[in-house]
Amino acid sequence: MIVAKGISKSYRSGPRTIWALAPITLDIRPGEFAMILGRSGSGKSTLLGTLGGLLRPSTGQVLLDGQPLWELRESERAHLRAHKIGFVFQNATVIPSITLLENVLLPTLFLQSSVKPTRQRAMALLDRVGLKDRAHAYPSEISGGEQRRVALASALMNKPALLLADEPTGELDPETEADIMALLEETHRQGTTLLIVTHNHQLTGAADRVLTLSENGLSEG
Ligand SMILES: Nc1ncnc2c1ncn2[C@@H]1O[C@H](COP(=O)(O)OP(=O)(O)O)[C@@H](O)[C@H]1O
Ligand SMILES: [Mg+2]
Repeated sequence: MIVAKGISKSYRSGPRTIWALAPITLDIRPGEFAMILGRSGSGKSTLLGTLGGLLRPSTGQVLLDGQPLWELRESERAHLRAHKIGFVFQNATVIPSITLLENVLLPTLFLQSSVKPTRQRAMALLDRVGLKDRAHAYPSEISGGEQRRVALASALMNKPALLLADEPTGELDPETEADIMALLEETHRQGTTLLIVTHNHQLTGAADRVLTLSENGLSEG
Protein backbone atom coordinates (compact mmCIF):
# COMPACT_ATOMS: atom_id res chain seq x y z
CA MET A 1 0.00 0.00 0.00
CA ILE A 2 2.62 2.48 1.11
CA VAL A 3 6.35 1.94 1.15
CA ALA A 4 9.00 4.31 2.48
CA LYS A 5 12.60 3.74 1.45
CA GLY A 6 15.24 5.57 3.44
CA ILE A 7 13.17 8.66 4.06
CA SER A 8 14.61 11.29 6.34
CA LYS A 9 14.06 14.94 7.05
CA SER A 10 16.55 17.53 8.16
CA TYR A 11 16.30 21.27 8.69
CA ARG A 12 19.04 23.87 8.61
CA SER A 13 19.31 26.14 11.59
CA GLY A 14 22.17 28.53 10.86
CA PRO A 15 25.31 26.37 10.66
CA ARG A 16 23.57 23.42 12.30
CA THR A 17 21.56 20.61 10.74
CA ILE A 18 18.60 19.40 12.78
CA TRP A 19 17.43 15.87 12.06
CA ALA A 20 13.68 15.75 12.48
CA LEU A 21 13.61 12.19 11.12
CA ALA A 22 16.50 9.73 10.84
CA PRO A 23 16.42 7.60 7.67
CA ILE A 24 13.69 5.01 7.94
CA THR A 25 12.28 2.24 5.79
CA LEU A 26 8.73 0.99 6.16
CA ASP A 27 6.25 -1.17 4.27
CA ILE A 28 2.56 -0.96 5.16
CA ARG A 29 0.56 -3.69 3.46
CA PRO A 30 -3.01 -3.30 2.23
CA GLY A 31 -5.55 -3.87 4.99
CA GLU A 32 -3.00 -3.57 7.75
CA PHE A 33 -3.56 -1.64 10.98
CA ALA A 34 -0.15 -0.36 12.02
CA MET A 35 0.73 1.87 14.91
CA ILE A 36 3.96 3.79 15.36
CA LEU A 37 4.88 4.69 18.92
CA GLY A 38 7.36 7.39 19.74
CA ARG A 39 8.08 10.05 22.30
CA SER A 40 7.32 13.65 21.68
CA GLY A 41 9.92 15.02 19.26
CA SER A 42 10.84 11.60 17.83
CA GLY A 43 9.64 12.59 14.37
CA LYS A 44 6.15 11.06 14.22
CA SER A 45 4.42 14.04 12.63
CA THR A 46 7.33 14.53 10.26
CA LEU A 47 7.13 10.89 9.18
CA LEU A 48 3.38 11.00 8.67
CA GLY A 49 3.63 14.25 6.70
CA THR A 50 6.17 12.76 4.31
CA LEU A 51 4.08 9.59 3.86
CA GLY A 52 0.96 11.66 3.28
CA GLY A 53 2.51 13.78 0.56
CA LEU A 54 2.44 16.92 2.69
CA LEU A 55 6.09 17.31 3.61
CA ARG A 56 8.91 16.62 1.18
CA PRO A 57 11.54 14.30 2.68
CA SER A 58 15.22 15.33 2.48
CA THR A 59 16.19 11.86 1.30
CA GLY A 60 14.45 8.70 0.19
CA GLN A 61 11.30 7.71 -1.59
CA VAL A 62 7.66 7.11 -0.76
CA LEU A 63 5.76 4.70 -2.99
CA LEU A 64 1.99 4.80 -2.80
CA ASP A 65 0.61 1.77 -4.64
CA GLY A 66 3.89 1.74 -6.52
CA GLN A 67 3.80 5.42 -7.50
CA PRO A 68 6.75 7.53 -6.34
CA LEU A 69 4.88 10.24 -4.47
CA TRP A 70 7.74 12.74 -4.34
CA GLU A 71 8.73 12.34 -7.97
CA LEU A 72 5.30 13.31 -9.25
CA ARG A 73 4.27 16.80 -10.25
CA GLU A 74 2.55 18.75 -7.50
CA SER A 75 -0.82 18.42 -9.24
CA GLU A 76 -0.41 14.65 -9.66
CA ARG A 77 0.55 14.28 -6.03
CA ALA A 78 -2.46 16.35 -4.95
CA HIS A 79 -4.71 14.19 -7.10
CA LEU A 80 -3.34 10.96 -5.67
CA ARG A 81 -3.62 12.34 -2.15
CA ALA A 82 -7.22 13.43 -2.59
CA HIS A 83 -8.25 10.06 -3.97
CA LYS A 84 -6.29 7.66 -1.83
CA ILE A 85 -5.29 9.21 1.47
CA GLY A 86 -7.27 10.42 4.43
CA PHE A 87 -5.26 12.50 6.88
CA VAL A 88 -6.16 13.25 10.48
CA PHE A 89 -3.89 16.05 11.67
CA GLN A 90 -2.41 16.27 15.14
CA ASN A 91 -4.92 18.17 17.30
CA ALA A 92 -7.19 17.84 14.29
CA THR A 93 -8.87 21.08 13.67
CA VAL A 94 -12.01 21.93 11.79
CA ILE A 95 -12.74 25.18 10.01
CA PRO A 96 -14.63 27.41 12.43
CA SER A 97 -16.53 29.53 9.91
CA ILE A 98 -18.44 26.70 8.22
CA THR A 99 -20.89 24.11 9.56
CA LEU A 100 -20.00 20.57 10.57
CA LEU A 101 -21.64 19.23 7.41
CA GLU A 102 -19.64 21.65 5.26
CA ASN A 103 -16.46 20.63 7.05
CA VAL A 104 -17.12 16.97 6.25
CA LEU A 105 -17.85 17.82 2.61
CA LEU A 106 -14.70 19.90 2.22
CA PRO A 107 -12.35 17.18 0.88
CA THR A 108 -14.71 16.50 -2.03
CA LEU A 109 -13.80 19.92 -3.45
CA PHE A 110 -10.40 18.51 -4.35
CA LEU A 111 -11.72 15.45 -6.16
CA GLN A 112 -11.53 15.46 -9.91
CA SER A 113 -13.85 12.57 -10.55
CA SER A 114 -17.31 13.45 -11.79
CA VAL A 115 -19.03 11.12 -9.36
CA LYS A 116 -18.37 13.01 -6.20
CA PRO A 117 -19.49 11.58 -2.90
CA THR A 118 -22.58 13.32 -1.77
CA ARG A 119 -24.16 15.18 1.04
CA GLN A 120 -25.83 11.89 1.87
CA ARG A 121 -22.47 10.28 2.53
CA ALA A 122 -21.43 13.25 4.65
CA MET A 123 -24.59 12.86 6.71
CA ALA A 124 -23.98 9.11 7.07
CA LEU A 125 -20.46 9.84 8.33
CA LEU A 126 -21.73 12.44 10.78
CA ASP A 127 -24.17 9.80 11.97
CA ARG A 128 -21.33 7.33 12.37
CA VAL A 129 -19.42 9.76 14.60
CA GLY A 130 -22.60 10.49 16.56
CA LEU A 131 -23.15 14.05 15.33
CA LYS A 132 -25.88 13.76 12.74
CA ASP A 133 -28.22 15.95 14.75
CA ARG A 134 -25.57 18.68 14.85
CA ALA A 135 -24.86 18.75 11.10
CA HIS A 136 -25.79 22.41 10.76
CA ALA A 137 -24.06 23.56 13.92
CA TYR A 138 -20.76 25.48 13.83
CA PRO A 139 -17.60 24.10 15.43
CA SER A 140 -17.78 26.68 18.24
CA GLU A 141 -21.04 25.04 19.30
CA ILE A 142 -19.52 21.62 19.94
CA SER A 143 -16.78 20.32 22.23
CA GLY A 144 -13.13 19.73 21.34
CA GLY A 145 -13.68 15.97 21.37
CA GLU A 146 -16.63 16.35 19.02
CA GLN A 147 -14.52 18.50 16.69
CA ARG A 148 -11.99 15.66 16.54
CA ARG A 149 -14.79 13.32 15.47
CA VAL A 150 -15.82 15.76 12.74
CA ALA A 151 -12.21 15.87 11.53
CA LEU A 152 -12.21 12.08 11.38
CA ALA A 153 -15.47 12.04 9.41
CA SER A 154 -13.96 14.57 7.02
CA ALA A 155 -10.82 12.46 6.55
CA LEU A 156 -13.06 9.51 5.59
CA MET A 157 -15.23 11.47 3.18
CA ASN A 158 -13.40 10.50 0.00
CA LYS A 159 -13.31 6.81 0.99
CA PRO A 160 -9.52 6.75 1.31
CA ALA A 161 -7.81 3.39 0.93
CA LEU A 162 -5.22 4.63 3.44
CA LEU A 163 -5.95 6.61 6.58
CA LEU A 164 -3.05 8.34 8.32
CA ALA A 165 -3.81 9.64 11.79
CA ASP A 166 -1.48 11.80 13.89
CA GLU A 167 -2.19 11.38 17.62
CA PRO A 168 -5.91 11.01 16.90
CA THR A 169 -6.72 10.72 20.62
CA GLY A 170 -4.13 13.17 21.97
CA GLU A 171 -5.34 15.33 24.85
CA LEU A 172 -8.78 13.76 24.98
CA ASP A 173 -10.55 12.38 28.05
CA PRO A 174 -10.49 8.55 28.34
CA GLU A 175 -14.09 8.15 27.21
CA THR A 176 -13.70 10.24 24.06
CA GLU A 177 -10.38 8.50 23.42
CA ALA A 178 -12.19 5.14 23.51
CA ASP A 179 -14.88 6.49 21.14
CA ILE A 180 -12.30 7.64 18.62
CA MET A 181 -10.39 4.35 18.82
CA ALA A 182 -13.63 2.41 18.28
CA LEU A 183 -14.34 4.50 15.18
CA LEU A 184 -10.84 3.91 13.86
CA GLU A 185 -11.10 0.17 14.49
CA GLU A 186 -14.44 0.09 12.68
CA THR A 187 -12.89 1.94 9.76
CA HIS A 188 -10.13 -0.66 9.64
CA ARG A 189 -12.63 -3.52 9.75
CA GLN A 190 -14.39 -2.00 6.77
CA GLY A 191 -11.20 -2.36 4.76
CA THR A 192 -9.24 0.86 5.22
CA THR A 193 -5.50 0.51 5.71
CA LEU A 194 -4.69 2.38 8.88
CA LEU A 195 -1.50 3.95 10.19
CA ILE A 196 -1.64 5.76 13.52
CA VAL A 197 1.26 7.55 15.15
CA THR A 198 1.01 8.20 18.88
CA HIS A 199 3.01 8.56 22.08
CA ASN A 200 0.32 6.60 23.93
CA HIS A 201 1.39 3.02 24.69
CA GLN A 202 -2.10 2.17 25.90
CA LEU A 203 -3.55 2.35 22.39
CA THR A 204 -1.49 -0.43 20.84
CA GLY A 205 -3.87 -3.30 21.72
CA ALA A 206 -5.99 -2.81 18.63
CA ALA A 207 -3.16 -2.75 16.09
CA ASP A 208 -1.94 -5.68 13.97
CA ARG A 209 1.56 -4.34 14.11
CA VAL A 210 3.40 -1.95 16.40
CA LEU A 211 6.62 -0.13 15.52
CA THR A 212 8.69 2.25 17.57
CA LEU A 213 10.25 5.44 16.28
CA SER A 214 13.30 6.91 18.01
CA GLU A 215 16.34 8.97 17.08
CA ASN A 216 17.89 5.71 15.86
CA GLY A 217 15.10 5.11 13.41
CA LEU A 218 12.19 2.71 13.27
CA SER A 219 12.12 -0.71 14.88
CA GLU A 220 9.51 -3.46 14.97
CA GLY A 221 7.69 -3.99 18.30
N1 LIG B 1 9.93 22.96 10.56
C1 LIG B 1 10.83 22.52 11.44
N2 LIG B 1 12.01 23.15 11.60
C2 LIG B 1 12.94 22.72 12.46
N3 LIG B 1 12.80 21.64 13.24
C3 LIG B 1 11.64 20.96 13.15
C4 LIG B 1 10.59 21.35 12.25
N4 LIG B 1 9.57 20.48 12.36
C5 LIG B 1 9.95 19.58 13.31
N5 LIG B 1 11.18 19.87 13.78
C6 LIG B 1 11.90 19.10 14.81
O1 LIG B 1 11.95 17.76 14.43
C7 LIG B 1 11.73 16.90 15.55
C8 LIG B 1 10.56 15.98 15.27
O2 LIG B 1 9.32 16.73 15.24
P1 LIG B 1 7.91 16.04 15.09
O3 LIG B 1 7.90 15.24 13.84
O4 LIG B 1 6.88 17.08 15.24
O5 LIG B 1 7.91 15.04 16.34
P2 LIG B 1 6.68 14.32 17.07
O6 LIG B 1 5.49 14.42 16.18
O7 LIG B 1 7.14 12.91 17.26
O8 LIG B 1 6.49 15.00 18.37
C9 LIG B 1 11.53 17.80 16.75
O9 LIG B 1 12.76 17.88 17.43
C10 LIG B 1 11.16 19.13 16.14
O10 LIG B 1 11.57 20.17 16.95
MG1 LIG C 1 3.62 15.18 16.46
